[in-house]
Amino acid sequence: MTTRVIVTILLSTVLSSAAAGTRQQQSPKKKPAAVAKAQEHYQMTCQPCHGVGGVGVLPGTELTSGKWKHGSSLQAIAKTITDGVPNTAMLPAAGRFTKAEILELAKLARSFDKTPRRKPPVKK
Ligand code: HEC
Repeated sequence: MTTRVIVTILLSTVLSSAAAGTRQQQSPKKKPAAVAKAQEHYQMTCQPCHGVGGVGVLPGTELTSGKWKHGSSLQAIAKTITDGVPNTAMLPAAGRFTKAEILELAKLARSFDKTPRRKPPVKK
């Protein structure tokens, strides 16, 4: 008897968290369409290697440490995404996404890095 109750409780917990997982994947309505789209692209294309929130799955794929091997500016990140990194698992995304979509992906990737930024150089 008790076992059955425990099993039922366990099952319903598993099922409801699975349902919550499905709900999270739907793009949130309130964000600008481009941002939501970038998050969707990230989840579908980048997350398997870079992890949720850029925590990293494969070696060298974390995007949160503040160390950007290929440059931390939006332009540099967009270039890395566009061209990929030769001889690594980081394949070029050019052709799969538009330039605008890649820029949004770059902004998203950049946002995973929460380390304080150095002040930008003062413009003359
Ligand atoms: C098959 C695995 C894989 C996928 C998919 C992938 N990446 Fe990568 N990515 C890597 C690896 C591995 C590196 C590290 C390359 C190196 O050693 O320099 C990397 C590096 C990067 C970098 C450079 C980080 C730095 O330190 O400068 C960025 C930015 C990046 N990826 C973004 C993305 C985005 C955005 C996507 C989705 C469009 C994506 N990646 C998809 C494996 C992947």
